Amino acid sequence: MQVDLAQAITLLKRGEVVAIPTETVYGLAADATNDAALRQIYAIKQRPADNPLIVHIADANQVLDWAKEFPPLAQKLAKAFWPGPFTLVLPAKETVSLIVRGNQPTVALRVPGHPVALQLLQQSGLALAAPSANKFTQLSPTTAAHVAAGLGEAIPVLDGGACKVGIESTIVSVEGDDWQLLRLGMVPEANIHAVAGRPALQQQIDLPKVPGQHLLHYSPKTPIKLFATRKDLNNFASSHKNSVALVIGEGVPPNCQHFTLSNRPDEVAERLYDTLHQMDALKVELLLVQTPPELPEWLAINDRLTRAAH
Ligand code: TXA
Ligand code: MG
Repeated sequence: MQVDLAQAITLLKRGEVVAIPTETVYGLAADATNDAALRQIYAIKQRPADNPLIVHIADANQVLDWAKEFPPLAQKLAKAFWPGPFTLVLPAKETVSLIVRGNQPTVALRVPGHPVALQLLQQSGLALAAPSANKFTQLSPTTAAHVAAGLGEAIPVLDGGACKVGIESTIVSVEGDDWQLLRLGMVPEANIHAVAGRPALQQQIDLPKVPGQHLLHYSPKTPIKLFATRKDLNNFASSHKNSVALVIGEGVPPNCQHFTLSNRPDEVAERLYDTLHQMDALKVELLLVQTPPELPEWLAINDRLTRAAH
């Protein structure tokens, strides 16, 4: 059900959930201080309770409403990457709901870059907890139509058009002078390194702490098979009729229904989930996907494709 900005604010203030646009993917939003509202997010998504949510705020001045400390390194990163597809995990104040932080001692914060999301945050005065507006382990939505298809028509949706970044935010945790990359996104590690002035701490990622790292994530319903080269994909396609292919760059696979994305990482990210949603809707046996090269600018996209295919 589509709602406008004023209706979205009324619903959120009343403790209800609303799907909202961000520049990365659509989020299923609720007042981050209202535990009953937060519980609805987990129920609708069928998400495990130990899987923390990102709190969306209007600007960096609100960080200390949520975080115990805002170390200089985190301030630098916020200044460089907010508003934008970038999430900071910081030690949480004791007053932050255990539901929003999935019982973690930390809280994830993001100032989104989408104009409608910013307007909503500014005009409502709320901080909004919002995970991607899809059921747990399924593909994230990048349009209002994806939200309705995945969660049902009854969910109120504020339509802000198709998401421009297209994949979920880069997540970085900061502790004092150190930072760690928890989830790859379209803000690349090299840019964070440059702003931080030091490389990421190479630590074993603690799986339960970073549920986005679960391998079974971002999956369409149809199985996916990945191909490192077009030649491999073409060979396979010629003997598998009930499949559809996603290819990157020029050239058409033989005898095979296909979708083509450009060879620019930002354009592929923007189109990726919508294309996978469309391919999934064809209800074929198998989705064939050509993976981009193993280069830094393609890491986040390769990460999502690997998870989708798992
Ligand atoms: O781009 C995005 O980040 C989108 C839009 C809606 O903002 N949101 C999103 O939310 O992708 P979600 O819930 O699908 O993924 C959030 C990730 C999860 O993997 C969660 O575990 C991690 O953020 N996260 C949240 N709080 C955390 C914390 N305190 N410590 C570690 N990871 C955390
Ligand atoms: Mg998600």
